[in-house]
Amino acid sequence: MAKYRLIKNSAQMLGTFLAAALLNSTASAMEGDAVKGEKVFKKCASCHTVGESAKNKVGPVLNDVFGRQAGTFVDYKYGNSIIAAGEAGLVWNEDELFIYLEDPRKYLRAKLDDKSAKSKMAFKLRKEQDRLDVIAFLKTFSAPMEVEEMEETGETEEAEETQPES
Ligand code: HEC
Repeated sequence: MAKYRLIKNSAQMLGTFLAAALLNSTASAMEGDAVKGEKVFKKCASCHTVGESAKNKVGPVLNDVFGRQAGTFVDYKYGNSIIAAGEAGLVWNEDELFIYLEDPRKYLRAKLDDKSAKSKMAFKLRKEQDRLDVIAFLKTFSAPMEVEEMEETGETEEAEETQPES
């Protein structure tokens, strides 16, 4: 009987695991395609680098940009507006980047509520899908953010709840 319960428990755990895996893959499909994003990043690469040998160029290094306070990568000389936005609490995540990349100057003007705000990044990525894809690509160079860790904790709790009482 004990053995039977053990098998049943494992099956349930596997079920929970598969459901979580499915949920995750659906979410990433909506978020964009990192492989396509690598191609989109060629547009950024004249100014930005990622990876182990990344260096500041015209723009700052984009490793670990998720969770970074805007305007804070070491040894890069940012414009005043993006520094101000960072100091006011802007931390890069998917949603903020999605809007920023469409039109950085417009984004900073809205964020700071200042019509004279300026962006040193004179590049706009108009296409929504390109933005989603490049964000997915950049995520592969960033440590997972807190939000995802919280989701994982949620899953663990759920898994415990589905265990039958012994
Ligand atoms: C023509 C050069 C250029 C191109 C092309 C460009 N950027 Fe930028 N980017 C910059 C500069 C310069 C800054 C610094 C902005 C400032 O100081 O106002 C910047 C800032 C950023 C930031 C903010 C980083 C931080 O540390 O706060 C992100 C994110 C970013 N760029 C992403 C991208 C992505 C993704 C692409 C391609 C879709 C791209 N950029 C294309 C020049 C460029």
